[in-house]
Amino acid sequence: MITQFLSYEHDGNKAIKTAAKILKKGGLVAIPTETVYGLAANALDKKAVANIFKAKGRPQDNPLIVHIADYDDIMDLADYIPFTLMQLAKAFWPGPLTMIIPKSEKIPDIVSGGLNTVAVRMPSHPVARKVIREAGIPLAAPSANISGSPSPTTAHHVMHDLNGRIDAVLDGGECDVGVESTVISLADDKPILLRPGIITLEQLSEVIGHIDVSEAVINKLNDNKSAPSPGMKYKHYSPKTKIIMIKTENDEDFIDYVNSMKDKNCGVLCYDNETEIFKIPSVTYGQKGDYDSQAHELFDALRKVDDLSVQTVYVRCPVPQGVGLAVYNRLIRAAGFEVITI
Ligand code: TXA
Ligand code: MG
Repeated sequence: MITQFLSYEHDGNKAIKTAAKILKKGGLVAIPTETVYGLAANALDKKAVANIFKAKGRPQDNPLIVHIADYDDIMDLADYIPFTLMQLAKAFWPGPLTMIIPKSEKIPDIVSGGLNTVAVRMPSHPVARKVIREAGIPLAAPSANISGSPSPTTAHHVMHDLNGRIDAVLDGGECDVGVESTVISLADDKPILLRPGIITLEQLSEVIGHIDVSEAVINKLNDNKSAPSPGMKYKHYSPKTKIIMIKTENDEDFIDYVNSMKDKNCGVLCYDNETEIFKIPSVTYGQKGDYDSQAHELFDALRKVDDLSVQTVYVRCPVPQGVGLAVYNRLIRAAGFEVITI
C-alpha cells in the first residue's frame, strides 16, 4: 500500500476533502490533534476499525477513543449522558479530555474492546475538527504509532511508524500538547482518573469534586489484576534503549550520579541547556520546572534516545502532581517501572 502524504499547509481544504473521502470509504488516515496524531477510521464501520488494530499491531482488547466535532454528536454514541460529563464538557471541550461513559448499541464491540462503555473526546485542533465534520462520521482514533512505541507528535513520526500500512497521513504541523488526552471514567458512581494529561486532576476536581486515581496511573499493575483501562497493562513508549528513572532528594545528587557513569555506555535525558553539565551523551526534553514544555518534547525525545547508541539512559523522576503527573506516567512506563532511589 502506498501511503499518501496530504499537507494542510499546502493544500488546505483540498487535503481535508481527500482525507474525509478516504475515511468515508472505510480507509485509514492519520490526522493531527492538539495532543498527538491519531490513526482515524469510521467508528461505526467494524471492518475499517479492524484495520486500525492490524496497522498498529494493537491487542484487540484495548478499546479506542471515538472523536466528535460537535457536542450533539455524542447523543448517538452514549447510552445516557452522566451529569458530570455535561459539567466537564462545558469546562474542557473542545480539548484534550476523554470521558468514558456507557455506550449505545451503535458502537461496535471492536471499538469498545468488548466493554459496555465508550471513550469520547472532542478535539480542539482545527484540522481534526474539519476532517470529522467533512466526513460526517465519528472517528475512532488511537495514537498513530506502532503499538508500544512513543506516540507521534509530527506527521514525520507517523510516516516513520506506519508508512505503507495506512492510506494517508494528513500533515497539520507539530502537536501543541505532546502527550495524549487526560482520560476519566464517568461510567460508574465514582469518577476515576485513568490517564493523566495536560488537563490535570486538580482542574477536573474543581469542576466535579473528588476523583479517585486509578492505581495503574502510578504503579505497575500486578500481572493477574484486571486493568480498568486495558491500555494501561501494555508496555508503552519504550525505546529499545533501557531507561532508568532516578529519584533523589536534591538535583546535585542526580547530576553527580549520572556523571559517575562516564565510560559505562550510558546516556541521559535532561532539560534544555543542560548538555554541558553532563559528561555523557544526552537528549533534551523541555525546560527545567516547566512540565508543559516537558510534555511537549517528551515523545520526540524518547524517539531520539536510540540514536545515542548507549545501553542505558537515566532520567529524573518528575513530581507526580499537576502536569508533572502526566510526565511521570509516561516516563515510568518508558522505564518499565524501573526506579533507583539514591
Ligand atoms: O490524545 C489522545 O487521546 C489520542 C488522540 C489521537 O486523540 N488518542 C489516544 O488513543 O491516545 P489511545 O488508543 O492511544 O489511548 C486510549 C486509551 C487507552 O489506554 C485505552 O485502553 C483507553 O484509552 N480506553 C479507551 N476506551 C476505553 C474504555 N471504554 N474503558 C477504559 N479505557 C478505555
Ligand atoms: Mg496510544
